[in-house]
Amino acid sequence: RTVYVNGEYLPEEKATVSIFDRSFLMADGVYEVTSVLGGKLIDFAGHAKRLERSLNELEMQKPDAFDDLLDIHRELVRLNDIDEGMIYLQVSRGSAGDRDFAYPSADVKPTLVLFTQNKPGLADSPKALEGFKVISIDDQRWGRRDIKTTQLLYPSMGKMMAKAAGCDDAWMIEDGHVTEGTSNNAYIVKGNTIITRHLGTEILHGITRAAVLRFAKEAQMKIEERSFTIEEAQGADEAFITSASTFVMPVVEIDGAAVGAGTPGPIAARLREIYLEESR
Ligand code: PDD
Repeated sequence: RTVYVNGEYLPEEKATVSIFDRSFLMADGVYEVTSVLGGKLIDFAGHAKRLERSLNELEMQKPDAFDDLLDIHRELVRLNDIDEGMIYLQVSRGSAGDRDFAYPSADVKPTLVLFTQNKPGLADSPKALEGFKVISIDDQRWGRRDIKTTQLLYPSMGKMMAKAAGCDDAWMIEDGHVTEGTSNNAYIVKGNTIITRHLGTEILHGITRAAVLRFAKEAQMKIEERSFTIEEAQGADEAFITSASTFVMPVVEIDGAAVGAGTPGPIAARLREIYLEESR
């Protein structure tokens, strides 16, 4: 695989970052995951905009190559011959050559890393026909989940808790209401209405979420942006999640209770179909 590090395209085994890099020592980094379908980047502009916002919120410098990010993404797709998969991008506050809680001075340049993940068959994943089973767990992440940081230990723990329970993912609960999945936004469906948590600092503002809600409106579906409980979700007609890595994925079981018929519902299936059609 050819990866990108601070201005250079290199074979992955030649790519290095300092052990003092603040993403390594402090999780002082932000990231984006952009999907690739048929060799085409999906929603690149949305990801670039959210990256800029994450950097601003953390007073992190933009990497020098910020305006070249689209070209870099395209070059990595080409060099690695990616038809279906993802591009991972990370910016960290860089390395001042020592460990210090205070941010380094402005002459310390951010670290920019990108690599591809080849996932042939991603769009036709058989999992979309089965649906995800999720468990609920307490949301123990920090309070600024609208910033896409590399502090992913708790979401990783959540994924492991889900696996240990024989499930695919975990929905996180705060003050009795679902925030989101470990790496995706959460939705329920009642009749013709799609319900998903309103935007705020409690959840990541998903790029896939924005696209799917736009397609849902165009398809005359109703949308309610509000929080919901696990009990409401278990009693809903359908449930699903969205993210750049799963697109629209039905959820068929929550904490052992079947949602609807316990099989992927028609609205989730239709939204997945529209999303893939519009993206390809
Ligand atoms: N995760 N919520 C969280 C906590 C996420 O980590 C993600 C994305 C989303 C969905 O955002 P988007 O639609 O922009 O992908 C929601 C990526 C895919 C990841 O961490 O791999």
